[in-house]
Amino acid sequence: MRNRRVEFKKGLLCRVAGSLVVLMFIVGIIVYPSIIPVFGSAAESSDAAVSNRASFSTDVIYQIVTDRFLDGDSTNNPEGDIFDRSNLRKYHGGDWAGIIQKLNDGYFTGLGITALWISSPVENITTIDPSNSSASYHGYWARDFFRTNEFFGTMNEFQNMVNTAHEKNIKVVIDFAPNHTSTAEFGTTVFPEDGRLYRDGQLISGFKTDTRDIFNHESWTDFSTYENGIYHSMYGLADLNHINGTVDSYMKEAVEQWLNMGVDGIRADAVKHMPEGWQKNWLSGIYEENPVFVFGEWFTGGTGSDAQMEKFANESGMSLLDFRLANAIRGALGNDSITMVDLHSVIEATGADFEEVNDQVTFIDNHDMSRFMTLSGNNQRDVENAYVLLLTSRGVPAVYYGTEQYATGSSDPENRGDMPSFSTTSNACKVIGSLAPLRKTNPALAYGTTNKRWINNDVYIYEREFAGNVVLTAVNRNQSAGYNIAGLLTNLPAGEYEDVLGGILGGRNISVSAAGAVTVFELGDGESAVWQYTNHSEAAPDIGNVDPMIGKAGNTITITGRGFGAAAGQVYFGTKAAVVQSWSNSKITVTIPNATGGVKDISITTAAGTKSDTYEGFEVLSGPQAAVRFKVNNAATVYGTNVYLVGSVYELGNWDTSLAIGPFFNSTSTIGMYPTWFYDISVPAGTTVEYKFVKIDGSGNVVWESGNNHTVVTLAEGTAAVTVDWQE
Ligand code: NOJ
Ligand code: NOJ
Ligand code: CA
Repeated sequence: MRNRRVEFKKGLLCRVAGSLVVLMFIVGIIVYPSIIPVFGSAAESSDAAVSNRASFSTDVIYQIVTDRFLDGDSTNNPEGDIFDRSNLRKYHGGDWAGIIQKLNDGYFTGLGITALWISSPVENITTIDPSNSSASYHGYWARDFFRTNEFFGTMNEFQNMVNTAHEKNIKVVIDFAPNHTSTAEFGTTVFPEDGRLYRDGQLISGFKTDTRDIFNHESWTDFSTYENGIYHSMYGLADLNHINGTVDSYMKEAVEQWLNMGVDGIRADAVKHMPEGWQKNWLSGIYEENPVFVFGEWFTGGTGSDAQMEKFANESGMSLLDFRLANAIRGALGNDSITMVDLHSVIEATGADFEEVNDQVTFIDNHDMSRFMTLSGNNQRDVENAYVLLLTSRGVPAVYYGTEQYATGSSDPENRGDMPSFSTTSNACKVIGSLAPLRKTNPALAYGTTNKRWINNDVYIYEREFAGNVVLTAVNRNQSAGYNIAGLLTNLPAGEYEDVLGGILGGRNISVSAAGAVTVFELGDGESAVWQYTNHSEAAPDIGNVDPMIGKAGNTITITGRGFGAAAGQVYFGTKAAVVQSWSNSKITVTIPNATGGVKDISITTAAGTKSDTYEGFEVLSGPQAAVRFKVNNAATVYGTNVYLVGSVYELGNWDTSLAIGPFFNSTSTIGMYPTWFYDISVPAGTTVEYKFVKIDGSGNVVWESGNNHTVVTLAEGTAAVTVDWQE
């Protein structure tokens, strides 16, 4: 199991820690007169600072469809048939000037929002897509990833927006869609753009005129298999061939251009539809220069486990948008299709399936599903309760613009209407405005475990806990029945607690006994409340998170948590000490030490000599990465047996067949069809790699190729493809 924090402190132990903490707090005033970090200012070095681009654990993201938010500059609005405010498929004029205006007037700050996720900023097609009569107002039909969408603004305005956001302690995440350009295939329809890709104005290729293998040419995906979704086109979108060296370097350099302007994170579009191996190599390049937070969109409609999705979340090096939790909250609070007990089961199951569940990005609605208000039959309290749940649950929450204003809309494009209002008086705004700041101050929300405390089909009471910090949340979704809450236990220290929401959703004060028993209280119809305890002095270092999720020696890694102490101590990757770049009580940055690739346990020893818990299995890559397409011909198998690859480097399992890469693909006509098998894999660049193919059956029996190992010398930069025959 990789990257999972080891939890020591449960139940009783925690209560002991709680009393200790009170003592420590008194002592703390004497022992540590002030928490002055070794480097930088206190704000800069906190885990919650905007300078922390690697971890979004304490942030609340606000998702903006740029065109639909605010038109701050009408001079950049499109002319002609792509602009029409009465048509939801056309441009409406929203832009970065509008976002700057709202940054300056404090709209986001008032809500406690600390990160914006905006539409893809890159140049898109400027014509109507004839297959669906739509303009590219949403930003998903790229043309030139090195230029701006002129209707959103210029490069200077983009830079101003990022700078303005940072001045307000708000991070900026851009949507980025490297899977495709624009639509190019739909029966006999002629597309004026032909999916053309440009590099800063220079044409690279059109789709029908593609002589350089820039695109995959496999017609539309039927979504039947993972392989089919990757190499075929999604709804006719010209599907980029990432193993092409030109596309590979284009996407690496394009994203770097935006990150070098100070962008703090990437929302990667359609990650299920690109080779994982290419994406891992792309991320490795990103993290080398700009260790930022990356989360991908792996769309799924259900709440159940999807092994391929979880494998991607656990191995690719990026987080995912957590559709499983979103669908569960929508079911439990939106249309009551599941119960609170079912919702809790999803929290438990995802907690087991995602190795870094606190890093997944959570939400209740977005631009690809009905707005929560519409789902709930226009029930405002449902929206408010859903936000209580979202903002106190594990994961990094994202609020979809307008839902805090009770905007409605069933499917795309109705769910992407103009921002209805900027008033902040609604209860939904008040819920966000009181809970978002709590994510900055109480680390139980960012890093904590989740513990069910009281449940029935309508009521869910759960506790988050980290390093002596506790947040207890109670939600009653039933708007016509209240419940008597008896027998509730908590790890909140003894005392009287006020509802963090100030009673706006009916919550009241609770009192907790020394044994952790909450006095009986009534959770009325549709009521919600949140109670919290913030620990100001930790007895020992507690690691909350390590970000980014992967990296090679020399990269900067950010460790967040509590109790690291003011003075620099030591950080170990396995037994190797890392060079410390900065150190504060809640955030440490270090350089990944030179070590062979593999999973390493990270631990901290404070200056005072106290050891932390172990953060298990951080993935150190063997070196800079390159994507290689491995192909083997004539590998005949019986039904149920698949081909995998294993080799001499960590990325290829170090000859351990239980870590072999695959199963390989074999059903793509332009790349490989059975008995030819292929797979795109991220391997160390500029390295001699030995490898062999293996056949593994459904019970795990392994048959090796005979003969000598195959050898490939990977390029220092760029992609490669190697093809060999199976050695019988
Ligand atoms: C998923 C996006 O969220 C959706 O809105 C878009 O149309 C597709 N990917 C294609 O980019
Ligand atoms: C075992 C395989 O059988 C062999 O082919 C390969 O060369 C070695 N592993 C590498 O150590
Ligand atoms: Ca405009």
